[in-house]
Amino acid sequence: MRIAMIGGGYVGLVSGACFAEFGVDVAVVEVDPTRLAALREGRMPIYEPGLEDLVKSNVAAGRLTFGADIAEAMNGAEAVFIAVGTPTRRGDGHADLSYVYAAAEQVARAMTGYAVIVTKSTVPVGTGRRIAEIVSATRPDLEFDVASNPEFLREGNAIGDFMKPDRVVIGATSERARATMQRLYAPIAATEAPILFTGIETAELTKYAGNAFLAMKVTFINEMADLCERTGADVLEVARGIGLDARIGARFLQPGPGFGGSCFPKDTLALVRIAQEAGAPSRLVETVVAVNDARKSGMAARIITLCGGAIRGKTIAILGLTFKPETDDMRDSPAIPIVARLAEDGAHVRVYDPEGMDAARPLLPPSISYCRDAHDAAKDADALVLITEWNQFRALSPTRLATEMKGRTLIDLRNVYDPAAMRQAGFTYHGIGRP
Ligand code: NAD
Ligand code: UDX
Repeated sequence: MRIAMIGGGYVGLVSGACFAEFGVDVAVVEVDPTRLAALREGRMPIYEPGLEDLVKSNVAAGRLTFGADIAEAMNGAEAVFIAVGTPTRRGDGHADLSYVYAAAEQVARAMTGYAVIVTKSTVPVGTGRRIAEIVSATRPDLEFDVASNPEFLREGNAIGDFMKPDRVVIGATSERARATMQRLYAPIAATEAPILFTGIETAELTKYAGNAFLAMKVTFINEMADLCERTGADVLEVARGIGLDARIGARFLQPGPGFGGSCFPKDTLALVRIAQEAGAPSRLVETVVAVNDARKSGMAARIITLCGGAIRGKTIAILGLTFKPETDDMRDSPAIPIVARLAEDGAHVRVYDPEGMDAARPLLPPSISYCRDAHDAAKDADALVLITEWNQFRALSPTRLATEMKGRTLIDLRNVYDPAAMRQAGFTYHGIGRP
């Protein structure tokens, strides 16, 4: 079987490499010359654990290729996946579908025979239909089907999520499209992951509903954390206490500085707009967006208060910049508004992130100092703030930190550290939602 993958980013590259691993011939098309050059030289344009080895072995086996020419990639392809970005459109919060529609038109021009055109990008309800119209208008002669196959992988665990998913959702209307997708996903079906065949609109909405529900869960526990801080309860125990209820489930109940990343923020916002336009507004999701935005922009104020109210001239060490560990992705990271505000209020901000510093530079103020490691960042700091829970920060010795830092304020926005051990080492420790 042969497929084309339009877009060699987090989703296109991971899913392309995983399909290749399952024995499919995959031609990835990437329009960005820097990304394409990197891929052709065997360098990964993104940091994702395990990806480099997976890509290299499948390139060596001849099953995975990278190019800029859609026609070449489409040659003999039974399915073509559109895995381009759908960022928030400037001004109105809608998903920007210009990359998707441009790709659909390019695909239509390049097609030589029947293929299934599959959206892997997260797209609003109705996009599949619009793609069908674009393709028919561009090439009235073509025989094709449109399908929706939203991707549920998480960054940092993308390969595992793709290869062993909780489920696969495929929206398709024709038997021919369903049969093609079924063959493609046969290796995953063999792992007993449910493959759900639905209508196209249902598949499109399922993706937004899934992300919005998870974002709501995170936002709920963040609110409970605030309540714990006012009442003396411990949010970790509350999360455990409710998470053991099988109807609730333990995952996505870790309080923090607010959700970020390339999906939750833009997808909740897009769902708000989709629902408003459809005349069925979702007040829950609207509230999730507002509460999370306020949390992210208010996090710096919390830090400033915990630093004594004024930070001008103080040195603040920041551990972790990416929106979550095991990725270099800085999109909508809570670190962006936090660092910006601390710098604006006159702090010397010393940051360290294991993978995200290159991506962070253009997004953070120029006055920031980028450090070699956590200890370098902590040097002479009045306060240390952990924003992203990278494993390498978990076992930092409090006694060593105490010798490196000037002050003794430790603000742990991910509840990674043992408060008692930190207090014993002389730190004033502040977690999230813990007494
Ligand atoms: P990304 O920005 O990392 O990658 C998109 C890539 O497509 C870029 O490299 C871009 O240069 C390329 N591209 C754009 N137009 C092209 C064209 N016409 N031809 C060839 N290449 C083209 O984005 P991403 O994070 O991979 O997300 C892609 C889609 O998948 C989005 O809709 C996103 O919501 C969805 N998604 C992302 C994740 C995630 O964790 N990142 C998870 C699930 C779903
Ligand atoms: C998310 C979805 O989980 C995935 O299914 C979808 O395909 C893409 O969007 P991702 O953005 O990679 O994946 O990371 P995720 O692990 O979901 O975390 C998103 C944000 O929520 C991060 O900022 C993370 O720190 C935060 N989060 C997550 C919490 O604050 N607490 C939690 O318990 C879980």
